[in-house]
Amino acid sequence: MKANVLVTGGAGYIGSHTVVELLENGYGAVVVDNLSNSCEESVKRVEKITGKSVKFYNADVRDKAALSRVFEENHIDWVIHFAGLKAVGESCEKPVEYYDNNLYGTLCLLEVMRSYGCKKIVFSSSATVYGDPEVLPLTEECKTGGTTNPYGTSKYFQEIMLQDVYKADKEWTIVLLRYFNPVGAHESGLIGEDPKGIPNNLTPYIAKVAIGELPEIGVFGNDYPTPDGTGVRDYIHVVDLAAGHVAAIDKITGTGVYIYNLGTGIGYSVLDVIHAFEKACGHPLKYSIKPRRAGDIAMCYADASKAKAELGWEAKLGIDEMCASLWKWQSMNPKGYRE
Ligand code: NAD
Ligand code: UFG
Repeated sequence: MKANVLVTGGAGYIGSHTVVELLENGYGAVVVDNLSNSCEESVKRVEKITGKSVKFYNADVRDKAALSRVFEENHIDWVIHFAGLKAVGESCEKPVEYYDNNLYGTLCLLEVMRSYGCKKIVFSSSATVYGDPEVLPLTEECKTGGTTNPYGTSKYFQEIMLQDVYKADKEWTIVLLRYFNPVGAHESGLIGEDPKGIPNNLTPYIAKVAIGELPEIGVFGNDYPTPDGTGVRDYIHVVDLAAGHVAAIDKITGTGVYIYNLGTGIGYSVLDVIHAFEKACGHPLKYSIKPRRAGDIAMCYADASKAKAELGWEAKLGIDEMCASLWKWQSMNPKGYRE
């Protein structure tokens, strides 16, 4: 085994795909998840895909005693920290819960890591830290802050907290990965995104319309200054994103703060994604134009060249693979993991 990695939030969407990549690349994985937005079945499916076992703890990262037990019982070399709440709209209604879970959760984790001498962490950040972009594509040097909701602000604050930790103690390795829009699913169709209730994000919503669970897609605005008037995003296949985490752990050997955008560098509009999904599912999809959604920006896409130059990582899968894999997951698991 190359190194043993604690994956917080490892039962979730990106976490489960990352555990697969870790195990398939010779790393060990220990998962801590409180199952607030996931279920243990995803961990079992990861074991099925990889044929390897994963040690799972049903625990909250804010429970320092439980986290300490994990470090007591396992030698941990690296932590990949996915655990957190992520719904933008909900964060505006429940800011206290979001700051408690995301900020206090990270503080508890850092405290326990430090007490066990584990000082290497990869953090799930987001393109949301750039706010409304002044220039495109976004490089890691672009201004951060100006976030418009507690979820985004919690990511921005966590980045600052983590950088302060390094300033005070130069033994830390802090890796901030800023994800653009992760979509798609593992090629097996066994793991994927399993949102509770009506999805907020575009691609899970499209998938539910394609399978007949929802009547039509609402396109939030067609009067943006973009080629077809609908919002443009940098969608990245979740398997590529997961591989980006392994690349970071493989390549980064020194201490310091390392920041990378994980995106493809290509922007697709809402209509582009709907049409790509129609190709994947083989039938037309009903949609109608709705008003803009509050807080949305017109365009967001990455300059992903730093990750390529320094980590040797770049996204390999395109929009067609993203839609085909999502459709496979949706068709094989119409009710997600709840069957
Ligand atoms: P997810 O909800 O599927 O995964 C998060 C996991 O963390 C869930 O399994 C949840 O049960 C667990 N969790 C939440 N709070 C916890 C706590 N206090 N203790 C233990 N476990 C806890 O979400 P995801 O899409 O896989 O996102 C993973 C991370 O990536 C999150 O931090 C998210 O903010 C970040 N991110 C996601 C996106 C995206 O579009 N999906 C974009 C940028 C960044
Ligand atoms: N959209 C629709 N209809 C829908 C849902 C979305 O037209 O039903 C549009 C949005 O207006 C936007 C695009 O589709 O133009 C993408 O929207 P998503 O909700 O899928 O994604 P966002 O770009 O708004 O945000 C996502 C995550 C954030 C993260 C951000 C950047 O939800 O947590 O990507 O990483 F911060």
